[in-house]
Amino acid sequence: MTDAAKLSIGGKDFDYPVLTGTIGPDVVDIRKMYGQTSAFTYDPGFTSTASCQSTLTYIDGDEGVLLHRGYAIGELAEQSSFMEVAYLLLNGELPTKEELAGFSTTITRHTMVHEQLAAFFRGFRRDAHPMAIMCGVVGALSAFYHDSTDIHDPVQRTIASHRLIAKIPTIAAMAYKYSVGQPFLYPDNSLSYTGNFLRMTFGVPAEPYEVNPVVEKAMDRIFILHADHEQNASTSTVRLAGSSGANPFACIAAGIACLWGPAHGGANEAALNMLREIGTPDRIPEFIARAKDKNDPFRLMGFGHRVYKNYDPRATVMQKTVREVFDSLKVSDPVFETALRLEEIALNDPYFVEKKLFPNVDFYSGIILSAIGFPTEMFTVLFALARTVGWVAQWNEMITDPDQKIGRPRQLYTGPAQRPYVGLDQR
Ligand code: ACO
Repeated sequence: MTDAAKLSIGGKDFDYPVLTGTIGPDVVDIRKMYGQTSAFTYDPGFTSTASCQSTLTYIDGDEGVLLHRGYAIGELAEQSSFMEVAYLLLNGELPTKEELAGFSTTITRHTMVHEQLAAFFRGFRRDAHPMAIMCGVVGALSAFYHDSTDIHDPVQRTIASHRLIAKIPTIAAMAYKYSVGQPFLYPDNSLSYTGNFLRMTFGVPAEPYEVNPVVEKAMDRIFILHADHEQNASTSTVRLAGSSGANPFACIAAGIACLWGPAHGGANEAALNMLREIGTPDRIPEFIARAKDKNDPFRLMGFGHRVYKNYDPRATVMQKTVREVFDSLKVSDPVFETALRLEEIALNDPYFVEKKLFPNVDFYSGIILSAIGFPTEMFTVLFALARTVGWVAQWNEMITDPDQKIGRPRQLYTGPAQRPYVGLDQR
């Protein structure tokens, strides 16, 4: 790549430095462009714009590669744990045994929520969507933990980060319990992060709850697969909210709100609903035809990705995990057969091949979550739980970045030019 990019505008030439990362595309540094040329760049959806420098996550969408701090997602999902990945994302290196034990203990000690939060839950309707509850309750944490909202104090930032990672499973489980009318369960810190979450969700005070190790492992793996995904919509939302100096609880609540959308975190719910609607493999051609029809808004949910133009590496792990969970729970779901067949048909269809549309992480995750016993409304909540780690790590990185400024995109104005006000009696 050249070391400078040339721009010719208004009869004048300008040079802009080209920055090179460790791997991945170079970026043209246009920070001085407006000052020199009085022109902005136009890039709706930020398809060609790098909004920050980051050391956390690397994606090569063409090759189907996802790395966290340099480690491949497949290796992390197979050999690591969610706590280890959380430590890695926050601190930059895999923990030693002692560091992991210390980190897990710290997180464990923050799992309880202020007792008054339980009363806060009761203000919601029982039929509220759990993501609506998550937005409200996580945002409200800043009202309970004043001593960790000073973003300029690194100790407070660390405490807030640990609190968010530790309390989000408790809040997610409470959102579920509230919707089914069962009592909240306090955390049991003798269990793992994931085991504790499963118990708070599916246990009841009337009897002991035994964590199924295969389900625990599968759930932990799902959390790993969703932990971070560089500058996606919700992460960019967290960074943008944080760029104004907003406290971390408010920023994570903003991320949760963004994640809720069906084009982002809501897609696994939509994918499972679609697979259930298809029902049996013989109906697949009908749905494939609809997905290809320009006049039909229907899309194959769980297919395609803004960045991956190859098989999403997380979908590979997810497909394997479906089999493990089914074997362990001795269940099957015809929807899995439909999903496998749909994938096979789509991957051999020129429409999907030419547009490079492959299954994404959401295609199979709903099938596992449903087998474990989660209702579809909880799927995005689980995504938010796991992604909190990435959001928190990205937020910390942003706060300590010397180049950090308040996020303030520009626009191409296409409204009326200045015109005189017309009095009400003359309109
Ligand atoms: N089914 C059918 N056609 C599709 C699909 C699909 N799932 N996805 C994209 N296409 C087609 C589009 O119609 C478009 O066709 P055209 O070029 O003839 O107009 C072309 O492929 C490119 O699609 P875009 O929407 O421009 O691609 P973009 O990168 O903006 O969208 C997105 C990516 C939003 C994920 C899209 O593929 C989609 O809607 N998929 C279904 C929803 C989904 O699974 N979302 C989960 C994303 S993963 C996550 O958030 C964790």
